[in-house]
Amino acid sequence: MNKSLLITGGAGFIGSHVVRHLVNKYPSYMIVNADKLTYAGNLQNLTDIENADNYRFEKIDIVNEGEVFALFDKYMFEGVIHLAAESHVDRSISTPNEFVYTNIVGTVNLLNASRKTWNDHEGKVFYHISTDEVYGSLGPEGLFTEDTPYDPRSPYSASKASSDHFVRAYHNTYGLPVIISNCSNNYGPNQFPEKLIPLAINNIKTGRKVPVYGKGENIRDWVYVEDHAEAIDIILHKGVTGETYNIGGNNEWKNIDLVYLLCELMDQKLGRPEGESASLITFVKDRAGHDKRYAIDSSKIATELGWKPAHAFREGLSKTIDWYLDNQKWLQNVLSGDYEKYYEEQYLKR
Ligand code: NAD
Ligand code: DAU
Repeated sequence: MNKSLLITGGAGFIGSHVVRHLVNKYPSYMIVNADKLTYAGNLQNLTDIENADNYRFEKIDIVNEGEVFALFDKYMFEGVIHLAAESHVDRSISTPNEFVYTNIVGTVNLLNASRKTWNDHEGKVFYHISTDEVYGSLGPEGLFTEDTPYDPRSPYSASKASSDHFVRAYHNTYGLPVIISNCSNNYGPNQFPEKLIPLAINNIKTGRKVPVYGKGENIRDWVYVEDHAEAIDIILHKGVTGETYNIGGNNEWKNIDLVYLLCELMDQKLGRPEGESASLITFVKDRAGHDKRYAIDSSKIATELGWKPAHAFREGLSKTIDWYLDNQKWLQNVLSGDYEKYYEEQYLKR
C-alpha cells in the first residue's frame, strides 16, 4: 500500500459512494472509513467492498478527541477526506447542538490530529467536503462563485460555514495543506429518506402524501452522487492546496416541478395511470428560514481540473428510482429506527 487515506462519514450517502469509488479505482491505497454510524450511517451501503484488501472500517465518533488521535496514531494517514457531518437542514432547526458538536468540534479534532501527525506537509492533504449553503440564498439571478461572501442562514449551514472557516484558518495559521469543495444538492442511491428525493420516492411508492414545503417555489441545483464522487477524486489528485472548488450540476429545478417529474416517472415505473402519483402532492407549512434559491458556477473546476457532471437529470433520477424500488430491504432497514417518530414530528404535526 503506498498511501493511507482517511474517509470520515464513509457509511453515509455521499461518503459510501466516495469510498467505493476510491477502493475500486486505487487498489494500492489503504482506504480507512471512520464513521460513528448514526441514523444516517449504514454499513449495508458498502457490502460489495467490505472485504476488499485495501479497505478498513473503524467505528469512531469524531467529537471524541481521544478516539480521533488514536485513529491517526494507528494509521498515520497521508490524506483525509472529511465528509462526516450532521447533514439535514430540518434536523438542524429542531436540534442545532448536534450540528455544533459534530460539524464544528469534530472538524477541529480532525484538523488537530492532522496537524500533529504531519511534520512534513509534502504529499499530504486535508480535504473538507462542504456545501453551497454556506453562501446563503440567491434571488432569481446570479450564481454562487468561490468568491461569494459567506452568509449561512440555517443552523446546518452556519455549522458548515464555521467548519470551513476553521479549515482555512489552519491553512493560514499553521500552513496545513487543505482543500475545500462546496457542492450543491446530491441525489442518487443510498440517500436517507429524510431528504426530498428519496422521501418523495418512498411516499409515492407507499401511497403516503408527498409533502412540498410552502408553495414549492424554492430552487435547488441537483448533481448525481457518482458525479460528485468523481469530482472529489479529481480534486484530491489535481486540486491545489489552499484552494476552494465549487461543484454543481448546472441543473436548477423548482421543488414543485421536480416533484411532478418524480410522480410522472413513478407512474410509468409502477404502471399507474398518469396523474395518480401527483394526486399525493400536498403543500405543507414552509421550512423556517427556507433559502429561496441555490445555483452554482462550477466553471473553475471545469476549466482548471476538467470535471463536469456526466449524468443527465432524467437518467440519474430514473436510476435512483430503480435503485429504491429494487432495494426495499435496505429501505425497511433504515426506516426501522426512529423514523416514524421523526416523520410524525416533522410532517404529521406540521
Ligand atoms: P449523511 O447524513 O448521509 O452521512 C453522514 C455520515 O457521517 C453518516 O455515515 C454518519 O454516521 C456520519 N457521522 C455523523 N456524525 C458523526 C460523528 N460524530 N462521528 C463520525 N461519523 C459521524 O450525509 P451526506 O449527505 O452523505 O453528506 C456528506 C457530507 O457532504 C457532509 O459533510 C455534508 O455537509 C456534505 N454535503 C452534502 C450534500 C448533499 O446534498 N447531501 C451536498 C453538499 C455537501
Ligand atoms: O445544497 C446542498 C445541501 O443540500 C446539503 O448541504 C445538505 O446536506 C442537503 O441536505 C441538501 O439540503 P436541502 O435542504 O436543500 O435538501 P432537502 O432534500 O432537505 O430539501 C430540498 C428542497 O426541498 C428544499 O427546498 C426543501 C424542500 N423539501 C424538502 C423536504 C425534505 C420539501 O419541499 N419537502 C420535503 O419533505
